[in-house]
Amino acid sequence: MDPGCPYIKKEGIEMAALTKVNAFLHGGDYNPDQWQKYPDILSADVELLRKAHINTVSMGIFAWMALEPEEGRFTFDWLDERIETMYQNGIYTVLATPSGARPAWLDRKYPEAMRVDSYGVRNHHGLRHNHCMSSPVYREKVRIIDTKLAERYKDHPGVILWHLSNEYGGECYCGLCAAKFRTWLKDKYGTIEALNDAYWTAFWAHTYTSFDEVEPPYRNGEQSVAALKLDWQQFTTWNTADFMKAEIDTLKAVTPDIPVTTNFYLTEQLDYAKLAEPLDLICWDSYPCWHEAGTTPVHTAAQTAFTHSRMRNYLPGKPFLLMESTPSLVNHHPVNKLKRPGMHRLSSLQAVACGSDSVQYFQIRKSRGSFEQFHGAVIDHEGSDRTRVYKEVQALGEDLQRLAPVLGSTVRPKAALVFDLPNQWAVNLISGLDKFDKKATVTAQAHYEALARAVGDVDVISCGRDFSEYRLLVLPMLYKVSDELGEKIARFVEEGGTVVATYLLGYVNDTLLAHLGGFPGAGLRRVFGVWNEEIDSLWPEDENHLRLTEECARALKGLGDTYTVKEYCEILHAEGARVLAAYTDDFYAGSPALTVNRYGKGLAYYQAARLGSGFLTDFYRAAAEDLGLRGPELPEGVEYHLRESDTARFHFYLNFTGEAVRLTGLPEGTDLLSGCRPGSEAELPGYGVLCIEEPKEARLD
Ligand code: GAL
Repeated sequence: MDPGCPYIKKEGIEMAALTKVNAFLHGGDYNPDQWQKYPDILSADVELLRKAHINTVSMGIFAWMALEPEEGRFTFDWLDERIETMYQNGIYTVLATPSGARPAWLDRKYPEAMRVDSYGVRNHHGLRHNHCMSSPVYREKVRIIDTKLAERYKDHPGVILWHLSNEYGGECYCGLCAAKFRTWLKDKYGTIEALNDAYWTAFWAHTYTSFDEVEPPYRNGEQSVAALKLDWQQFTTWNTADFMKAEIDTLKAVTPDIPVTTNFYLTEQLDYAKLAEPLDLICWDSYPCWHEAGTTPVHTAAQTAFTHSRMRNYLPGKPFLLMESTPSLVNHHPVNKLKRPGMHRLSSLQAVACGSDSVQYFQIRKSRGSFEQFHGAVIDHEGSDRTRVYKEVQALGEDLQRLAPVLGSTVRPKAALVFDLPNQWAVNLISGLDKFDKKATVTAQAHYEALARAVGDVDVISCGRDFSEYRLLVLPMLYKVSDELGEKIARFVEEGGTVVATYLLGYVNDTLLAHLGGFPGAGLRRVFGVWNEEIDSLWPEDENHLRLTEECARALKGLGDTYTVKEYCEILHAEGARVLAAYTDDFYAGSPALTVNRYGKGLAYYQAARLGSGFLTDFYRAAAEDLGLRGPELPEGVEYHLRESDTARFHFYLNFTGEAVRLTGLPEGTDLLSGCRPGSEAELPGYGVLCIEEPKEARLD
């Protein structure tokens, strides 16, 4: 092993894989199974990959039919040959289990493997990602093929990582799943009486007399018990994780030293915090809609950074991998615009800046036919290295080599924002407020964007995370708060943390029963020093305003006098909290809309109304200043991220505007991408990136 390998100091099985490559993984989904009748193309591809500085390929995703063309007959020759050829050419294999799509023979013989929809209707064969996670037959067929793969490749030095299935997701309402759901409920509640109490089923005479009466929330069935729907979502996560663990157990029994991962995607359907636990590494597939009409790449970049952070934090302190991205366009956006020249480099280096140790693509070569034939790829149907996209990928490969010192370093922010999937589900299940869109995700992203602009990096975390590593914690729309979580938040503040919460804080417990005794519940009324008596929902054309008090000028520097409020206004009573702003309009004019309370050694801010980006930017800038967490001053449209190793800081500046900007106050060090030392000021071209390596001992502070 190369003694200079940055992974050498880290322990853990996930590092074993990355140590072998000892470079940023650069590669992606490659499907030789589709090209078996085109040997010339397969050979030519190897050279094209090498020239593009590609060092990994993900193979076998959706290759079940090529691996087992009929039940019990296995054909691995084509894969043997590809893994070996790639390895001989310095390209490692990320090997997939094929459970993401089933052969037709399997569905024909075992229809129970096909999912049942929320109306109780079984699907026909087709598409992908649509198997029943409970089906014993399906699980057994997956176990067999996974075992065969593991046994065949367990000693191949080219195989560095298992890629479980593909984007686990979806739900099934078949009889097997319904029965499993009932067992899961029995384990959770013990008695049917406890379930009835937890669900408040006396309402509308919904009381169950036995677990046998409980059904999944079919679309044409029980849609009125929110706690049942929440449990169904938690059960679906549990069942998916259980299916995934079965795949992991199969592989680990044969290849304990090959790490496992699975590709997450931009969904809120599963609680990834639960899926992450048995994985060695987190990977995700990122397909932002760059250049979307009506928005800017700057805003899209902030949303993407939010998700990079969310994914990174499912296994904190470890590298994550960008498993898929497109080098040019996708085929699933409403309008499939090309990434403009330079955007591929910029968006890929953004992933790296946010903590990814890879840039990988869907797909290496465009398929000739079928569903994704016009999706972007490194190698076009034209088949050469002459395309614009190929050249951008090749240049990025060179950039990744220049960034080698960054490898293995991590992002270590002091500010975090809680984005917890069961809470998101709970908010969306509220019957009331804005009936159609509670905007829980865009609200979290708006807070993230403003906070990141003030401090640089922000961790996006689940409620289960240890809060004590942070100084500032933001809780946007944290509606579902158990007593235990309430205590954890209280402890964080008591011990000196600063927390910022918004409207909707602590209305319900984990089974969505309202906290009695006034909101925010779960002990948070005393932490925030407020009682929230009512919440008013505004029509889209309505607005109210905040006027800041003199108290605010003392507490937070640099805020304006008034700000516009939209959509939600809670009517608060200050019970010890200082009032920083009050409403100006309507019957609750003069009542508190922004407060701060000292609790123990810390501070608890409460924003009672939905405020726009202008307010959030000013507020977080002032709060960050107060806490000594301010990041660098940046021109509009420039994103900043910081990765750290034991010996250096890597400062990334990413210009998401098409125009050149002037950066000032740069740290001392070398820009790894250009090899130059910029000094304290530099011009960053449109879509440009700087990565300044600042040796740690060089700093005086
Ligand atoms: C991903 C998926 C890939 C491919 C890609 C297209 O979500 O994992 O198989 O379909 O989307 O963008």
